[in-house]
Amino acid sequence: MKKFTFKKEKSKWTLSYKESRAIIKNNFKITKEFEKKKKQKVHEDFYTTQMKNPMNTLEVENLHTYFFTDNGTVKSVNGISFEVPKNKIVGLVGESGCGKSVTSLSIMQLVQAPQGQIVEGQIRFNIDKTDEDGNALAYNIAAMPTKEMYKIRGKDITMIFQEPMTSLNPVFTIGYQLDEVALIHNEKMTKEEAKKRSIEMLNLVGIPMPEEVYKRYPHQLSGGMRQRVMIAMALAVDPKLIIADEPTTALDVTIQAQILDLLKNIQRKTQSSIILITHDLGVIAEMVDYVIVMYAGRIIEKGTVEEIFANPLHPYTKGLQKSKPMVTSDTDEPLYSIPGNVPNPINMPNHCFFKDRCKDCIAKCETYPEEIRVSETHSVFCHLYEEGLNHE
Ligand SMILES: Nc1ncnc2c1ncn2[C@@H]1O[C@H](COP(=O)(O)OP(=O)(O)O)[C@@H](O)[C@H]1O
Ligand code: SF4
Ligand SMILES: [Mg+2]
Repeated sequence: MKKFTFKKEKSKWTLSYKESRAIIKNNFKITKEFEKKKKQKVHEDFYTTQMKNPMNTLEVENLHTYFFTDNGTVKSVNGISFEVPKNKIVGLVGESGCGKSVTSLSIMQLVQAPQGQIVEGQIRFNIDKTDEDGNALAYNIAAMPTKEMYKIRGKDITMIFQEPMTSLNPVFTIGYQLDEVALIHNEKMTKEEAKKRSIEMLNLVGIPMPEEVYKRYPHQLSGGMRQRVMIAMALAVDPKLIIADEPTTALDVTIQAQILDLLKNIQRKTQSSIILITHDLGVIAEMVDYVIVMYAGRIIEKGTVEEIFANPLHPYTKGLQKSKPMVTSDTDEPLYSIPGNVPNPINMPNHCFFKDRCKDCIAKCETYPEEIRVSETHSVFCHLYEEGLNHE
C-alpha cells in the first residue's frame, strides 16, 4: 500500500526572525531618507512644474504609495494616473482595500508616516498661474516639503472624511471650529467677519437655525448634521478641490441622498472640483462626471460616467455593476458578489491582478495588461481588448 507522507512546507507568507529583522532594518533606512527629504528647505522651483492640461485641477501621474511594514512592503497605490478636470466630479470606486483612501491621503500629503511614503510619481495641482511662456503652473505635491504643503492643504484642497466625529473636536463648539478654519487661512479676517461667514456656511449646507447650531457642540448634533458641518468646514475656505472619502457611508439612506445632493449643488455653485470616493456604484451613477475604477492599487478602467455604465469593459467593472443593489429590483435573489479575493498586497503577482477571479481569462493574462484606449476618455487595462481580441 502506498504510504502518504506529509512534507512540512513552510508557508511563503511566514517570515523567519532573521528575515523579519532584515526587513525592519531596511525599512528604517528607506523611510529615514524619505523623511529627510520632506524636511529639506528647498526653493519653490523645486516642486513647481507645468500642468499637462491647464483645464485640469489635478493630474496624478504614475503615483506609487507604499507602506514599509514589518512583514514587507505593501504597495497600496501601485502606479496610477488620472486627471481631475476643473469644475467636474470624479468618482473613485472599488472594493474595500483597493487603495482609494491611500490615493486621497497621498494628494493631501496625509499618508501615515514614516511607514507610509509616496515613493514615485507626480501629483500636479494647478495653482492658476502661468510662466512667462504662458504655461499653466502646478505644484507637484509628491515633491513638496511638509512645511510648504500648509500653503494649500486645508485651503485650496480640503477633505470631507467618512466619520465626522473623528475630525470634529468634541471640546469646542461648531462655531469655534468653523471660525478657526476661516481665520487660519485668512489673516486679514476679523473674528466678527469669521462668525458671519461661518453662519453663512451653515446656512449654505442647509442647517436650520444656523445661529443656534453655531453655539452647539458636535455631540449635540445628529450624524447627518455633523456631516453637513464637515462640508461647511471644507467649503469655508473656497477650495479648488474637495476630496470626499465615503462621505455618506455612516449615514442612513435618506440622509445619504440629501448630503449627496447638497455636495452636487455646492459643486455647481462654487465651480470647484470634487473627488468622490465610494464603494457604491449607485452613488457614482447619480453624482459624477468621470469614473475611475481601482483594483488592488491600480486603475483598471476609467471613462466618463456614460461610458462606464453603458459600456463597461473590464470583467471587474462588469462584476461591480452586477453586485450593485437595485432599488427597483423585485427579486429575492441574494446580491451577486464577485467570487475570490484580492491578491496579497505584499507579494503582488506579475500576471493580471484579477486573473484568479476572472471568468474570461486567456493565455495572455500571464502578463500584466497595458492601458488600452477605447476613446478619448475611456480606457481599460485588460488583454481582451487588444487588437484582434475584441470580445464585445
Ligand atoms: N497605515 C497603513 N499601514 C499599512 N497598510 C496600510 C495602511 N493604510 C492602508 N494600508 C493598506 O493599503 C491598502 C489600501 O488601503 P485603503 O486605501 O485604505 O483602501 P480603500 O480602498 O478601502 O480606501 C490596503 O491593503 C490596506 O491594508
Ligand atoms: S487581463 Fe485577463 S485576467 Fe485580467 S481581467 Fe482581462 S481577461 Fe481577466
Ligand atoms: Mg477607504
